[in-house]
Order: sequence, then C-alpha cells, then structure tokens
Amino acid sequence: MRLRSVFTVFALVSAQSLTACKDPRELPPTTEYWEPVAASAVPAELRRLRTVLQPLPEHVDVDAAKASLGQRLFHDTVLSADNTLSCASCHDVAHGGVDGHRTSTGIRGQVGPINAPTVLNARYNVLQFWDGRAANLREQAAGPVANPAEMGSTWPAVVAALGRNPAYVTAFAASYHDGITADNARDAIATYEESLVTPGVADRFLRGDDTALDGDAREGARLFESVGCTSCHNGIGVGGGSFQRLGAVRDYFALRGGARTAADDGRFNVTHQASDRSVFKVPLLRNVAETGPWFHDGWARTLDDAVRTMGAVQLGRDLDATQVRQLVAFLRTLSGPLPAGALPPAAPAPAAAAPAAPVPPHA
Ligand code: HEC
Ligand code: HEC
Repeated sequence: MRLRSVFTVFALVSAQSLTACKDPRELPPTTEYWEPVAASAVPAELRRLRTVLQPLPEHVDVDAAKASLGQRLFHDTVLSADNTLSCASCHDVAHGGVDGHRTSTGIRGQVGPINAPTVLNARYNVLQFWDGRAANLREQAAGPVANPAEMGSTWPAVVAALGRNPAYVTAFAASYHDGITADNARDAIATYEESLVTPGVADRFLRGDDTALDGDAREGARLFESVGCTSCHNGIGVGGGSFQRLGAVRDYFALRGGARTAADDGRFNVTHQASDRSVFKVPLLRNVAETGPWFHDGWARTLDDAVRTMGAVQLGRDLDATQVRQLVAFLRTLSGPLPAGALPPAAPAPAAAAPAAPVPPHA
C-alpha cells in the first residue's frame, strides 16, 4: 500500500515536471503531442460507439473468378422456372440489395409473406433469413430457386440449363474440378455475395477519423449509442448478430394493427419455442437508407417511421423530431459504394437510336 502511494506521488510529480518543462507554445504541433487533446474532444458516447461497432474491411479477399461467375448467376433468370426472375429481381444490388416492395413477388405474380432483406454485407449475418433458418450464404442460396413461391425451379433443372450454355461450362470448369453442380453454383453465388462489402463514411469514423462525422450525423451517432440502439444493432454489421423480440418494450403488432401472419411469428417458425414468437434476427443497418420499406413486414414506409417505431417499441422512448432527424442522418452514413465488379456490365446501348426529342423549356 505504502509503496504504491509513494510510487503514485512519484509518478504524478514526474508527470507534472514533464509538462512543466514542455510549454505547449514552444513545441512543434506534432501528432504525438496533440493526439491526447483531440481524443478528449471526442465525447464518451462516440468513444463507446467505436468499441461496440466495428469498421468494415476496405478490401475483402475472395476468389475473383468464382465471384464473377456468381455475379452472372445472381443476375441470370435461368435460375427460375419460367425464366422471369433472377436473384437480382428481388435483391437489386444497385439499389440497396432489395426490391423496394413491402413484401416480394415470386414467379407468376405470387405475392410473398415477407420483406426482402439486403444481400449487401449479408456475410456478417450470424444466420440467414429473418428467422435464421439457413446457417450461411451457401445454404441460403439453395432456398429461393426451389421455393415454389419464389423462383419455382429445381436444382437439377438449373444444372441442366447451365450445362447447355457453353459460357457457363467453361467458367465452371475454370473454377471447379467437377464443373457444373448445384453445390458449385451456390458456392459461386455465395462467393459473389461475400464480395459485396460496402464501407462508407461511418467506417472512416470507426477507424479513428474524428472529422468523418459532423452536424446531425455526429449527434445521431451519439444518440444511437446513448439511447441504446447499440444494445441490439452492434458489431461489424450494425446488426445481424442476434435475435430479439420485435416489441421488446411496447407491443409492435398492436401499433401496426391488422391480423397477425405466420411470418410475424419469426424465429418461432424454426424453433417452435413459445418464447421465440415475434423474435427476429436484428437486421444489419448497413445501407439501411436504401433498403426500405423497413421491418420484416415492410410496414415502415420511411426511415423516420422506422426509427421512431424502434424508439417506441424496442426502447420505450418517444424520440422527438430532432432526435429522429439526427439518428436518420447517422444511419445514412452507414451506406457505402459498391465494390468493383458488383454489377453486371451495362447492357449495350441500342444501335442507331433515334435522336432524342428536344427537351421542352421549362414554363
Ligand atoms: C421472389 C423474390 C426473391 C428472389 C427471386 C430471391 N430472394 Fe433472397 N430473399 C427474398 C426474401 C423475401 C427474403 C427473406 C425471406 C425470409 O427471411 O423468410 C430473402 C432472403 C435472402 C437472404 C438472407 C438475407 C438476410 O439478411 O437474412 C439472402 C442472402 C438472399 N435472399 C439471397 C438470394 C439469392 C442468392 C437468390 C437467388 C438464388 C435470391 N435471394 C432470390 C426474396 C427473394
Ligand atoms: C431490443 C433490440 C433492438 C433495439 C434496442 C433497437 N432495435 Fe432496431 N431492430 C430490431 C429488430 C429485431 C428489428 C427487426 C424488426 C422486424 O423484424 O420487423 C429491427 C429493425 C430496425 C430497422 C429496420 C431495418 C430493416 O432493414 O428493415 C431500423 C432502421 C432500426 N431497427 C433502427 C433502430 C434504431 C435507430 C434504434 C434505436 C433508436 C433501434 N433500432 C433499436 C431490434 C432492436
């Protein structure tokens, strides 16, 4: 005890004498000297945010040939029974990786029961689907092809169709020793999805750039931590890591109104445990500004609605208009550009297109 206090005093004295002989005005403004000053200017909520959220990597290592094959498969309607739908029909990679509808529509106009989540950064989901019924992206990719309400095909039919296309025969042979198989097609699709990682402005902040967030976005980032959004939306995906009750504090389904559907049961559909009713995978909030309408039922038409509803039903807080605006401004910084090769090459422009009609001047 005595020894420690002696040491503390010594340490304090020496620290003091150190500062005493280093008058800041005489020092060159090296980062070494200024760093502690800058760090203390970052509020505690933002420092905590940097520990509960992790930045996306700037580059991910995937097999480029497989990813490029997967990109073609993902955008090819050959995967559906009547050649009308590709994965991209419901997961438009250029528009947030979703279809923009409350719930998705499968082949022959069948309206589905649930909202399409994004495929961007989906590799960071602990399990796939709102109810977590698929373990990973490879397992997930099997589902929609064979789901009669989605693509309505079968894997043997898809494998046969791919085998009739010489370009696919060559591309599969280059990446897989056993050529075209259902497993290999799903592996290529999953490899492509693994490449869809989109670091943005928030990641610059998470990496230590204190100037990356300002104004409303910075206030929103503080709120996101201080009101408790991070208790569920955390980790590298800002979500995707756990299953939580929708309506943790107030009844979401009473607020929404309307009859409950089987899809509203969420995780219960997988585990059949009563305690899992209305429990859903916490969605990734990466690119969330582009993934509307929001929630498993697409009930929230605007991001403001989604944030206000979350505050109420998950945290029991009635967020005011300023707080909602600031949180939304922060959520927008979770969008980032697509990596190179994410989109298929643009369709060639129609040859000898008629000259565009002159645009009439504004009245
Ligand atoms: C008809 C529209 C439709 C098509 C076509 C479709 N999906 Fe989906 N996708 C959905 C919907 C809806 C869900 C959510 C279903 C659920 O959770 O029960 C989903 C979920 C997913 C997920 C899980 C994401 C998450 O956050 O859990 C991935 C990954 C995915 N789809 C990839 C694909 C791939 C790959 C294909 C092509 C092989 C494909 N989808 C075809 C509508 C579609
Ligand atoms: C108790 C856990 C929990 C808390 C706290 C929480 N969320 Fe959520 N969040 C969820 C779940 C679960 C969903 C999925 C809801 C559904 O299935 O319809 C969700 C969905 C969302 C969505 C829609 C995402 C999409 O793709 O549809 C947004 C936006 C969102 N949360 C933002 C927030 C914000 C902002 C806060 C803080 C004010 C917050 N959440 C607090 C669990 C939580």
